[in-house]
Amino acid sequence: MFDPLDLYTFDEIQTEPLQLSLVKNKPIQLSPGRQLDETSANEDIHQSDDDDAIIDNLDLPSVRYASPEVILCILILLRPDRQVNFNRETKKCKSVLEICISHGLEPDLLKNLLNWYTEEWPNKRLNSMEKICSKIPLLRFMVSKELLLGYYTTVLKKYNNNDNSNDETIQQLLKELSSRVSENCGRTAQPSIIRYFELKNLNNAIPLYEPSLTADNLGWKTWGSSLILSQLLVDYLHTVGVHITASCNQKKIKVLELGSGTGLVGLSWASKWKELYGTDKMEIFVTDLPEIVTNLKKNVSLNNLQDFVQAEILDWTNPQDFIDRFGHENEFDIILVADPIYSPQHPEWVVNMISKFLAPSGTCHLEIPLRAKYAKERELLKLLLNDNNFGVIKEYHSEGMDDWGAVKYLYRQIVHN
Ligand SMILES: C[S@@+](CC[C@H](N)C(=O)[O-])C[C@H]1O[C@@H](n2cnc3c(N)ncnc32)[C@H](O)[C@@H]1O
Repeated sequence: MFDPLDLYTFDEIQTEPLQLSLVKNKPIQLSPGRQLDETSANEDIHQSDDDDAIIDNLDLPSVRYASPEVILCILILLRPDRQVNFNRETKKCKSVLEICISHGLEPDLLKNLLNWYTEEWPNKRLNSMEKICSKIPLLRFMVSKELLLGYYTTVLKKYNNNDNSNDETIQQLLKELSSRVSENCGRTAQPSIIRYFELKNLNNAIPLYEPSLTADNLGWKTWGSSLILSQLLVDYLHTVGVHITASCNQKKIKVLELGSGTGLVGLSWASKWKELYGTDKMEIFVTDLPEIVTNLKKNVSLNNLQDFVQAEILDWTNPQDFIDRFGHENEFDIILVADPIYSPQHPEWVVNMISKFLAPSGTCHLEIPLRAKYAKERELLKLLLNDNNFGVIKEYHSEGMDDWGAVKYLYRQIVHN
């Protein structure tokens, strides 16, 4: 995977024949067009009889002979785990109960699959619910993506026809199948997800809905800068928050997030604040372009903050609409911004917004990724802040994660000179 904002794509065409590694180091060559099911996928010749032996794709039920319920259960068991921060999934075995809860798996479906492995096509390595639930989900890590896609293609070939349009199980199977296929296509082609953000010093994880990135809506993905900034702000509130409230007396603190996207920074701030002081001492806006705000509102509600946090449109090219509705020009005590610079106009627009909305004694917390492509824009941002009489009172470099791996970031704390 890559940072889409580097606008760098690399399509690797798979030309090698698929290779299936079996025990006894005897690889079988599969030509790309050959169906997995035709390789006598369920002939139990390839593994030892040891109950605890690991399984591979040949242990998956035969698409030709298994019922749709059995295949559906397999597809559900192969769902990815809940996504936390930008971490890759862990290969941890889970109990039957944990799997049923985390994968939303109905016990009846699981019983069908158990029946397959005990009665219809006995397999000692999978003859209990415990073995099924601990081994099948791990196939996502044990078997190559190409082999699983081969299995999915065989399922699609069998069930994708009009005769099945009224069969509820098959419709569910096809829906599950398309998710499994698209999950293998990188973040920009993935189906919508709920990602959970866990922060140190914050009691509850923050769930965020990220729609599928089928359009150019960059605010539908949560970016690594916002995780770094959120942790920094939560830690800050955790240690110095009391002094902030003490110094503001009766006045409500006003907080504005610019270009919130899915809302992680504003929602982390609001959640920590609520945890410490409740909701009556602060007014907070998370803002973005119109096409992003619908999802942003959804995330405010998902975090049960709809009575506290306002998700509104604030277009940096037309801030007057926001001012006409809410006022607050030069009134925000805190401005939060993560990853706002990825075009030549952005530095000017962002500095304009800080000039327009930051109170004379306010502080802006800005986090930007150090993308090679936007070095000039970062330099321009620095010059414009200087020209507009802003001072940088703190600056840290750090390293964090995004969907494609490690990224370097720069934090700046900005005030009026
Ligand atoms: C790279 S994303 C970062 C989103 C979020 N802050 C994060 O870090 O996850 C940039 C955000 O800036 C918003 N944005 C870009 N141009 C904007 C404009 N003219 N007015 C308001 N928001 C804008 C985008 O819609 C997007 O949500």
